[in-house]
Amino acid sequence: MTSHRLETPLHYSPVPESPVYGYGCLTAEPQLERVSRAIASGRLSAIGGSQVPELERLTAFYTGRAYALATSSATAGLEVALRALGIGGGWEVVVPALGWVSVAGAVAATGATVRVAPIEESLTPSWDHIAPLVGPTTAAVVVAHLRGRPASDIARIAAELRNREIPLIEDCAQAWGAGNDHSRPVGRYGKVAVFSVQAYKLIAAGEGGLTVCDDADLMAKMRTLAGDTRVPAYRPTWRGNSRMSEITAALAIPQLQALDDLTGQLRRLQRQVADLLTEQSSAEIVLPQDREPDDSNGMHVGAWWPSAQAAQTLWQECYSTGLCAWHPTPGDLHSHHAWPVQAESESADISRYLDLQIPALHPRLHHTFLDSVRSTLDKAGLLTRPDAR
Ligand SMILES: Cc1ncc(COP(=O)(O)O)c(C=O)c1O
Repeated sequence: MTSHRLETPLHYSPVPESPVYGYGCLTAEPQLERVSRAIASGRLSAIGGSQVPELERLTAFYTGRAYALATSSATAGLEVALRALGIGGGWEVVVPALGWVSVAGAVAATGATVRVAPIEESLTPSWDHIAPLVGPTTAAVVVAHLRGRPASDIARIAAELRNREIPLIEDCAQAWGAGNDHSRPVGRYGKVAVFSVQAYKLIAAGEGGLTVCDDADLMAKMRTLAGDTRVPAYRPTWRGNSRMSEITAALAIPQLQALDDLTGQLRRLQRQVADLLTEQSSAEIVLPQDREPDDSNGMHVGAWWPSAQAAQTLWQECYSTGLCAWHPTPGDLHSHHAWPVQAESESADISRYLDLQIPALHPRLHHTFLDSVRSTLDKAGLLTRPDAR
């Protein structure tokens, strides 16, 4: 990946000898060191501290954007961005049918109307799904880069929205380390892009988010709304408090510095798992596909299975083997089916989808992991070439 290299990249040594899914623990030492320094400094607030500004600077640099704002969550950053864009009652915002409930919730909280665009097997909507929902009252469109892979039609969606002067908001919560356009980090197309450092994300600091953009005025408005009391208000404004704490930033910085190292490692095993599913299982579509492995952050291999039952059986087998897998069962808050507003036209049937999380693991042990994937597929009756190695 020809990503933006940070000045002080971190490398893991040694790489783990047993599967690690909570990647944040790989940089536990430099995190602890930073947290100790933050505590010793006596400055724990973003206002007056040094960790939050450093994380903001590194995030802006890494994503190739001019500015970054650290917030208490990606959802908080998104809501601040929507408000700073002047979005509220009387406006509509289009969100994808697969994402996270609080994204649509942030739109609803501004008073705007939520419109839900259906998704296809890439897990994201194409422009053709979004276009029918766009009209004179559309204030913004949110596109999510899900499961560590760039949204497949993002370039076209961005171009069509630019022609209509409608802001695009990229939801990169799950996409740290993913890239597009020759593997440049995601988050460059949108008027704003939001990233999450919540506990289950590739950079995991418990709770927190980063919002990036290139527009100085918009950033000043977002800072004001998010509660940066040092920024003069553009007019008398109710300021909230969506600030990130110094401790959160201290946890996130070493993980961002090690991001390229981690994604490089994950992608190696991810490619082998994707090949296994493609060549030896009943999976109908495997993600990432051949042409895009370097654009994924390496965190998952997704697949569409022949039926919802097959996906569910595999999910149960993964659970008993100890493999980390995601399969959206009824009520899963990633899917619009569990939200107060649903997509207005048919989406791909997400109940046939299951993805496996790729652990950080020493390459010497990759074959052991592949064997356990193979045996899990076998138990679920989804291995088509049981003897292949
Ligand atoms: C796709 C997506 N968007 C947004 C969010 C919200 O992030 P946060 O929990 O930091 O508000 C999440 C978190 O799960 C997510 O998965």
